[in-house]
Amino acid sequence: MQDQIKKLAQILLVILLAYVGVVVLVFIGLFNTTKPEKYVPIAVPEYQTDLEAAVYATQDPSLQLGYEVLVNTSKVIGPLVANAAKRTTGNNLECISCHLNEGTKAFGIPLNTVLERFPQFRGRENKIGTIEDRINGCLTRSMNGKPLDANAQEMKSLVAFLGWLNKETTRDVGNSLYAKATEKGIKPMEWPNRPADLSHGAEVFEQQCVLCHQKNGQGTKETEGQYLYPPLWGRDSYNNGAGMTRLLTAASFIKYNMPYGVSHQNPILTDEEAYDVAAYMNQQQRPEKAALLADFPDRTKKPLSTPYGPYADPYPVEQHQLGPYGPIADYYKKEFGIIKTK
Ligand code: HEC
Ligand code: HEC
Repeated sequence: MQDQIKKLAQILLVILLAYVGVVVLVFIGLFNTTKPEKYVPIAVPEYQTDLEAAVYATQDPSLQLGYEVLVNTSKVIGPLVANAAKRTTGNNLECISCHLNEGTKAFGIPLNTVLERFPQFRGRENKIGTIEDRINGCLTRSMNGKPLDANAQEMKSLVAFLGWLNKETTRDVGNSLYAKATEKGIKPMEWPNRPADLSHGAEVFEQQCVLCHQKNGQGTKETEGQYLYPPLWGRDSYNNGAGMTRLLTAASFIKYNMPYGVSHQNPILTDEEAYDVAAYMNQQQRPEKAALLADFPDRTKKPLSTPYGPYADPYPVEQHQLGPYGPIADYYKKEFGIIKTK
């Protein structure tokens, strides 16, 4: 009897200790998150041989102009160019504000292998598009400007430069910092199957983005009027017809490229943080593109998070802007047999 009581007491003690242990662990979990309180600077890797020096060494004026259009867009075909006839872009972003590392970063929307992918079918226009058409898509949306004629010197030079860039970066195959053809576009991520949480997005913005993009999202300029840190919204940002206004596109771009310095190999934001901060960013004011109704003549081709209607599904515009996307994706699968991942 004595023995049995002793045993029972021992068992009860073990249960009590296990219980206390779980409570302590939960407590540590709640209050000791590894999330940094404040932005911690990231060492930015040296990503390239000096492309500027290499392109100037060719002594080919067309390649040089193409490089300048990509890197100094605002000064060559943007609001900062003195000759008003040359002004094509409507904001002071550069192509490389989004096409990172001078268009060579893996999953940073690289452009070094892009010519291999064109001409290609485009859902937005529902036809086969050329590389010039695609560039004009970014000029009229991401850059909030006008299209360039396919025969304009700046367009021809830019396309010639992209061809040179491909040779330059594939010649250097040992350099793992240049995007391979398979590392094109933006790396897809697992999106949370819930509506984006805008107040959490604002917190993430405060902790991880304001240091560079500033509290009002307007970035900071360098002396010559170009941006050091580009604006994320407002009059000088991309318009509401741009790819970056799609929550799933922006979230993946941010997750694998921001804060500046991270790559797809070492992201620091969680899927939840990237999703919420992207939604917060895209709910702010930005220029409006005319004639968005003409986009996607075949509405079933519209990406899930296209922020403007009309849609081929019954879900409201808010759900296309903020999620959850699971039910919308299920609808396209059931009704049209289309698998949508973004
Ligand atoms: C605000 C950000 C932004 C800016 C600025 C921008 N783009 Fe883009 N660009 C994008 C996004 C987003 C995509 C689509 C990526 C995706 O969905 O995979 C894209 C796609 C492209 C593509 C097709 C890439 C591919 O792999 O198929 C080309 C070419 C391109 N942009 C050229 C340009 C040029 C040239 C400029 C400057 C005149 C420019 N872009 C400025 C965001 C931008
Ligand atoms: C250390 C500075 C820094 C931090 C922190 C940072 N960014 Fe950026 N961001 C940049 C720079 C620089 C560029 C432009 C790239 C270039 O010019 O090479 C950029 C470009 C962008 C772009 C595309 C261009 C545009 O203006 O739309 C987006 C979107 C963006 N950042 C979002 C974010 C978000 C969201 C955060 C926080 C999660 C963040 N960034 C944190 C420096 C930073």
